Amino acid sequence: MEPTRIVVLVSGRGTNLQALLDACMQSHIPARAVAVVSNVPGAEAIKRANRAGVPTVVLDHKTFESRDDFEEALQKHIDSRRPDLVVLAGFMRRLGKNFVEHYRDRIINIHPSLLPAFPGMHVHERVIQAGARFSGCTVHFVRPELDSGPIILQVALPVHPDDNSNTLAKRVLEVEQGSIVQAVTWFAENRLEIVNEKVLVHE
Ligand code: GAR
Repeated sequence: MEPTRIVVLVSGRGTNLQALLDACMQSHIPARAVAVVSNVPGAEAIKRANRAGVPTVVLDHKTFESRDDFEEALQKHIDSRRPDLVVLAGFMRRLGKNFVEHYRDRIINIHPSLLPAFPGMHVHERVIQAGARFSGCTVHFVRPELDSGPIILQVALPVHPDDNSNTLAKRVLEVEQGSIVQAVTWFAENRLEIVNEKVLVHE
């Protein structure tokens, strides 16, 4: 079987991207990263992709007249790589309805909280501020509303009384990397089915 073709969208540091690239390289996932697209010039993630020999595209959203223009260009670049799956791995821009629907059920996102709690930005600060006892990460199929869609998997971990946003972010990030690899593996193995907006993971 041909490996699943994945395009990864990034904005920053790229540790989740790195976990995916490593897993593909070591053949832990029946998938291949066919492009990495960043909306931020100079993002560390782009350097990681270059080092792994994966083609990269930088599309700086600030250079586009409108959100629609940016997303149209983004879609064109992604589709030219014929992906089976689009992965948002630290992609920090909201995507519009048309874009998201174009990739319906073949676009996933990783978010550093137990969704539907704490969507959006500054997640760890807000978790601590709220006094939540648990946090974690979620990998989900993407729907147009912010950080929403059928949940593929979650990993929960305790928030310690002496945690600050940095210590919590660090522990969550450690579980994110295994989670994104696991979710992409299940997708590539064709084990995911969405029924009534809930994800079944088949044996
Ligand atoms: C990760 O914590 C990811 O969950 C988060 O950005 C970070 C990217 O780190 N994404 C979101 O908050 C999306 N709503 P990375 O660039 O090192 O993978």
